[in-house]
Amino acid sequence: MEVYVVTLRTAQGPRSGTYCTVLVTLIGTSGESQPVSLEREHLISGSAHTITVTAERPLGAVVLVRLRLQTQPGFPDLDWHCQDVEVGAGGGGKERQVDHFPCNKWLRTADGDIELRNGQVCTVNSETLQILKDHRMREIKNKQQHFRWRTFAQGVPNCVDMDSLKPLGPNLSYTRQSPGTELQYLRGFADRAYVQAHWSEDSFFGYQCLNGCNPMMISQVHSLPPNLPVTTDMLRPFLPQASSLELELERGTLFLLDYKVVEGVPPNTVNGQQQYLAAPLCLLYYNQQGELKPIAIQLQQTPGPENPVFLPSDPEPDWLLAKMWVRCADFQCHQLISHFLVTHLLGEVYCTATLRQLPEIHPLHQVG
Ligand SMILES: *[C@@H]1O[C@H](CO)[C@@H](O)[C@H](O)[C@H]1NC(C)=O
Repeated sequence: MEVYVVTLRTAQGPRSGTYCTVLVTLIGTSGESQPVSLEREHLISGSAHTITVTAERPLGAVVLVRLRLQTQPGFPDLDWHCQDVEVGAGGGGKERQVDHFPCNKWLRTADGDIELRNGQVCTVNSETLQILKDHRMREIKNKQQHFRWRTFAQGVPNCVDMDSLKPLGPNLSYTRQSPGTELQYLRGFADRAYVQAHWSEDSFFGYQCLNGCNPMMISQVHSLPPNLPVTTDMLRPFLPQASSLELELERGTLFLLDYKVVEGVPPNTVNGQQQYLAAPLCLLYYNQQGELKPIAIQLQQTPGPENPVFLPSDPEPDWLLAKMWVRCADFQCHQLISHFLVTHLLGEVYCTATLRQLPEIHPLHQVG
């Protein structure tokens, strides 16, 4: 006879408890126990219940705990937020060993058997027991039915096949309360005296290309793109006296912002008003005073009489507007590429792939 002491812990928090009963089966390397149920007790939130499981022969190392939630006649069928299960074996003496089986899931009567494994992270290559390999496979198969891929739009990453947050269920929902209005964050915008004083200066425009919220567009150029028809003669007033475009290209003091990626993107209509998008090219010069300044702006990709190159020597409002169109395109790239695509859309791809391909015991799943 071998006696195991099993502790079932219910999570803290409202509605974590249940009126259901739980059947517990221990699965060891040398056999399974009979299922034992928690009788005439309710699992209330924050509680720990202990039951004794007796096996005729030692089970070996206990590697899985099987739980099954069952309604009790006359009581409502409530889900149970199980925190974890602990299994103690070997009596009260020195050899007593306690194994820990984390859960932190909302279990339902409709789930049938749920099998928890102990908390030691491991990859499939270091898995030695066949029952644990099978457990991994079952978990993944199960998840793959629940989390499927959907095509969000042609040419962009796929997303999870769900229409709302609801099907994610309580297991995957945030439990943390949001911290209310983010006043600190808003305050940061109100007190930007330096920006208010310098926003229209060329050197601040250049500074923002490196130190603003989107430093991803600027690159050094050693030759000009064929669709930006600028010449030394045009740019002479903005370069040092004895220098030339060719010389500065060679020196590596010229930089380019090229927003070709937004070319042809259909602009929105906002409140019934058609919006417009430029796909500019902007050439910048890193001067001997250590300032980075724009020296030529073409608002669209294809050169022509309708698409002139603006210069710092143009009338001030023209040059300022040209810079504003560049910043507008920059904002679109920042929001659509760095933010929406690379943060949200790719984040969802990694999350969905992790849920579908890695069992919870995998170290990378734990990181996620
Ligand atoms: C939570 O996860 C467990 C284990 O994967 C699953 O059996 C159960 O149905 C999930 N609970 C809900 C409410 O989706």
